[in-house]
Amino acid sequence: MGYLLGSDIGTTGVKTVLCDDDGQIVATTSAEYPCHTPRPLWSEQEPTDWWEGTCESVRAVLDEAGVSGDQVDGIGLSGQMHGLVMLDENDEVIRPAILWNDQRTGEECDDITDAVGEDRLMDIACNPALTGFTAPKILWVRKNEPENYEQCRRILLPKDYVRFRMSGEYATEVSDASGMLLLDVPEREWSDEILDELNIDRDLLPRCHESSEVTAQVSESAAKELGVSPGTPIVGGAGDQAAGAVGNGIVRHGVISATLGTSGVVFAFSDSPATDPEGRVHTFCHAVPDKWHVMGVMLSAGGSFHWLHDNLADAERMRAEEEDRDSFDILTEEAAQAEPGAEGLFFLPYLTGERTPHANPNAKGAWIGLTPRHGKEELVRSTMEGITFGMKDSLEIIRGMGVDVEEIRVSGGGAKSDFWCNMQADIYEHDVCTINTEQGPAYGVALLAGVGSGRWQSADEACRNSIRVTDSYRMDRTRAGTYSRLYPIWRKLYRDLEDSFDDITEAVEELYG
Ligand code: XUL
Repeated sequence: MGYLLGSDIGTTGVKTVLCDDDGQIVATTSAEYPCHTPRPLWSEQEPTDWWEGTCESVRAVLDEAGVSGDQVDGIGLSGQMHGLVMLDENDEVIRPAILWNDQRTGEECDDITDAVGEDRLMDIACNPALTGFTAPKILWVRKNEPENYEQCRRILLPKDYVRFRMSGEYATEVSDASGMLLLDVPEREWSDEILDELNIDRDLLPRCHESSEVTAQVSESAAKELGVSPGTPIVGGAGDQAAGAVGNGIVRHGVISATLGTSGVVFAFSDSPATDPEGRVHTFCHAVPDKWHVMGVMLSAGGSFHWLHDNLADAERMRAEEEDRDSFDILTEEAAQAEPGAEGLFFLPYLTGERTPHANPNAKGAWIGLTPRHGKEELVRSTMEGITFGMKDSLEIIRGMGVDVEEIRVSGGGAKSDFWCNMQADIYEHDVCTINTEQGPAYGVALLAGVGSGRWQSADEACRNSIRVTDSYRMDRTRAGTYSRLYPIWRKLYRDLEDSFDDITEAVEELYG
């Protein structure tokens, strides 16, 4: 029997999935590495840590499954998107990678918009310049570290650096390349117009493939480090969101996913490169040839719930320890004690600023509407509701673009409790369902490796073969009615507070540096 391997080079670590050639998962492993914040708003990692983590988790997954390296038919790579890796003429890393959640590039975003023009940027890259994307990071290095830029001969994304270490090849694929702001997204190739306007040499960029195409083979030296055979094919793979979507079966018309992890992502398949004229959701190439996707990204979705858990739930954490239970389950039970709508208590989930729909690094979290009637139950419930309202913002924009929403698949931590699944159905005003796999991006690219190595004809065939719906959650009309009465009030709170968020940011910088 042949096996397929998928590795996802994430922000906290690399996760590797091994599945058989029927798409059934045999083993998963992970290896962690640090993330550095050398200054406020900066976020960096050492690319060599990704490579070491990948070798460790690939060797471990084969070991755990008792599978030998020569049984692996194909490898897929996924990874955190947008990160900037620069290599010199000896292929050495010049400086630490600047990551997707780094916020240093506000000025460079304005420079890009001025140089290319707002409308052309939307026509070609299908997105406005955002601080998370790669092109502003390149301009930042050129402006602030000219000695590093001088030495740069290659620019790679995180998973593509790992591909380079695996094979010696410089290659990427369309889904991840879309997040650089240098790709002509409708045409699925590098944009000479944007590269010219930004004065970036096209030779710095790798070849750009479709996601399931074979891009390289494992080299002799890397084979020893990974424990697989030299010559094993490596497919393009995908950025973590498109890869996660393949892992959730979002590879055909009408199927949408709502993933509540640290971030919150609403991801929709699209037959065309449809854009939101206000650029509030991202339009990227999908990991399926000739298809695109539209997605809204909340920065602190499950992250807000984690914050509440870590800071305000000592009692629940102690109880969980005593009863050998999960403290998140205890919090969720408390939330279920409160009324839908938490009796008029609202939570804004902007603890780390926001991307969709507000694109505002200064946005902040808040509870609004507190009265003496509100207790812990309402604090917890309103937090979960505020996060879910944030997801609905993305869904509404996507619906407004005319993208069909026939089935919503929920995943991530938010899909682990029936209570949150029901809340999502009620707030989205649409039934939702869960699926049989939770392995997300690493699994998605293992399936793409199966397409590239000829096991399946297409990502759709791979997903139909391997992924099925497990549970369905029906929208409750009464609760949905309560939420639809409250949602416009919640939405207006951001606008009411927007100026104050800027004032707070300014004062904090002044007073606390
Ligand atoms: C997508 C995005 C994140 C990162 C890190 O636009 O910024 O999903 O890829 O996971």
